[in-house]
Amino acid sequence: MSGAKNAALPILFSTLLGGKLEIGNVPALRDIRTALSLLGHLGIHAISLPGGNAPSVALDPVVESPDVWTGHFRFSEVDESSYEAPYDLVRTMRASILCLGPLLARRKRARVSLPGGCLIGARPVDMHLNAFVRMGANISIDHGYIDANTNGLVGCDIHLPYPTVTGTENILMAAVLAQGTTCIFNAAQEPEVTDLALSLKARGARIDGIGTSSIRIEGVSALSAGTHKVMWDRIEAGTFLLAGALLGEPLTVHGFDSDLLVSLMVALSEMGASFESHGHSVTVRRISSPRGTTIRTEPYPGFPTDMQAQILPLMAIANGSSTVVETVFENRFTHVMEMNRMGARIDIHGSRAFVRGGSVLEGASVMASDLRASAGLVLAGLVANGETVIQRVYHIDRGYERIERKLESLGARIKRVREEAVT
Ligand code: UD1
Repeated sequence: MSGAKNAALPILFSTLLGGKLEIGNVPALRDIRTALSLLGHLGIHAISLPGGNAPSVALDPVVESPDVWTGHFRFSEVDESSYEAPYDLVRTMRASILCLGPLLARRKRARVSLPGGCLIGARPVDMHLNAFVRMGANISIDHGYIDANTNGLVGCDIHLPYPTVTGTENILMAAVLAQGTTCIFNAAQEPEVTDLALSLKARGARIDGIGTSSIRIEGVSALSAGTHKVMWDRIEAGTFLLAGALLGEPLTVHGFDSDLLVSLMVALSEMGASFESHGHSVTVRRISSPRGTTIRTEPYPGFPTDMQAQILPLMAIANGSSTVVETVFENRFTHVMEMNRMGARIDIHGSRAFVRGGSVLEGASVMASDLRASAGLVLAGLVANGETVIQRVYHIDRGYERIERKLESLGARIKRVREEAVT
């Protein structure tokens, strides 16, 4: 597996807190390139360290070819004067909001384009902003930008109404350099939040309660130099486990701690899967007669909303019916229409999807609508009869490193083709 996108992104943005940082296991993804561009714009210099066939290159703004991606970078702050994250960079990646906390904490000023809505839901950032106001920031919204400044952030108690993942990460990063103690209650417990906290600790941040719902941060005046290796991507691992459960020979996923995805393993066991774990590897066998089940997406350690689209193809071919209750995002079923065009029988009622099993999926031309939706369509295409053509695969490049190469190496018949070649 590759390094985790959702852990790498906040760790990259934490370079705005100052101090030199070396980061390993950074995946070659579209979102990571966007983050590197934004960091370059904000005065953070990134050097790709040699390794494999890669030369040492200055990343200004980004390394273009993934063939020279070493995944190992050294970051340093070369210009502290910039504080604006422009719309062009933020609109392609909502996680750009993660620069707000570090900018406020270190440069005391931030102007960040509002991320706006996206296909899977409204995704507001009110909880981030309310927390920063409580910590002493003045915030106004003008012309689509969040304009924030402070004379210095001060620690306080933050009770989150919902355990928002990037919200927790943003507050955590700001609190590291705030004066005094910040306690985040009802914090997100996702392993990616833990990975960020560990990377901050490696640079001298004082954080207790890592991995729990109550995080206590004692502000420090500056961070020191440090190194960190990004955790493996558990969502990518889960996607490959589903590929193994759907078809083929036993499939072993390397670079995966099954403890971090227990909810998926439980759901797959209910559907008939069995697993063997050896250290950081897990083997799954194809489920010859999968059974239907019910899942409910929830914050960690519940079933991840980021795995919901990928389990639907297995539910579609399973014996009996299945139900998916989506509680995290209000509109995360855009892939269902496309899967139905491939022969799945899925009905949506509000936040629930009812899946009638026993379908034989047929290849079709389908449209990817978001990152995880496109991974679900790839899995549906693998198990469908005939050819499936997925358009707009740029969504999948945001979060899966060379998925077609990894699947091809397993024997899947999958190719990346130019759009003109399809039409
Ligand atoms: C992160 C992940 C994303 C994952 C999601 C849920 C990253 C880069 N992205 O997204 O892959 O699907 O967690 O596990 O790590 N909300 C508010 N106000 C806020 C913040 C959130 O109402 O200020 C709502 C959102 O609209 C959503 C829910 O809370 O309905 C969860 O959102 P959140 O946990 O913040 O997701 P992200 O951090 O955006």
